[in-house]
Amino acid sequence: MNVPLLAMDEGERADLDAFRRDVLAGLAEAPRAIPAKYLYDARGSALFDAICEQPEYYPTRTEAAILRQRAQEIARLGGRGCALVEYGSGSSVKTRLLLEAMPDLHAYVPIDISRGHLEATARRLREDYPGLRVDPVTGDYMALDALPDTIGDARRIGFFPGSTIGNLMPEEAVLFLRRARRLLRPDGALVLGVDLKKDPQWLHDAYNDRAGVTAQFTLNLLRRMNRELEATFDLSAFAHDASYNEAAGRIEIYFRSLRDQMVTIAGSRFQFAQGERIHTEYSYKYDQTEIAELARQGGFSVAASWTDPSRLFAVAFLK
Ligand code: TRP
Repeated sequence: MNVPLLAMDEGERADLDAFRRDVLAGLAEAPRAIPAKYLYDARGSALFDAICEQPEYYPTRTEAAILRQRAQEIARLGGRGCALVEYGSGSSVKTRLLLEAMPDLHAYVPIDISRGHLEATARRLREDYPGLRVDPVTGDYMALDALPDTIGDARRIGFFPGSTIGNLMPEEAVLFLRRARRLLRPDGALVLGVDLKKDPQWLHDAYNDRAGVTAQFTLNLLRRMNRELEATFDLSAFAHDASYNEAAGRIEIYFRSLRDQMVTIAGSRFQFAQGERIHTEYSYKYDQTEIAELARQGGFSVAASWTDPSRLFAVAFLK
């Protein structure tokens, strides 16, 4: 199905133009890469929620357990009447753990790239927390430099869970933290979830679940290009490819061409060799020392850091 051009508003058309531009530019590079943010269309966001429920994908439930256990402490460190600003809110499942512990919140500001997902989530939250002001912001949080006026002078507590910081290159992670530092203001703070370095087999399994949901998630990008960019990817001729690069301390996620083939995308033809990998995402893993160093470079310091008994995951409170 093609996107009905006439039914699109200006914002959607701009998004589509950016998607086309980024894909064509990314596939012209060597090695080829497509920015990971495009994994998260409506179907991609739903598949990502399903990844989080796979038995091998420990980060989500481990982080949720830490947040559940530490919610009161986080609320106390945040102080009364603060605004909670979530970077990449998705379904805001983990946020609820904090919202429960912060009944006097001034506002909750979810930021997400997926407009539909964001609106649906905001609606549900307003239903479930009738006194809560929810001010969603649609967009790329890497580029965001202002919050809705309604936030006023409330203390701004950022929330960046899911080890999404690990999906940034380390130097981008520093830039993100510096931007967050500015957006959240000098008296603000950031609650940061980070996946820790550990046995590589655990890491490998987390990105290669037996049910194949992560594979579907990666390949959804091809489906999206077929639909939105009139691409001709044969989904059975590409495979999900994720492995841990121990030297670099990161999971590397690609899709791989299973044969020599030609694909048309938005009118341009691309040749893929058998075995060629197209990069979509890295997932960097950090240890506690590296987290402290990252925070420092970003203009923060670690006021508190919590982990689970098996030290799989860390939640840090940065000031
Ligand atoms: N922030 C998540 C992570 O790095 C994102 C993620 C999980 C992901 N599984 C993925 C991204 C598979 C791409 C493909 O753990």
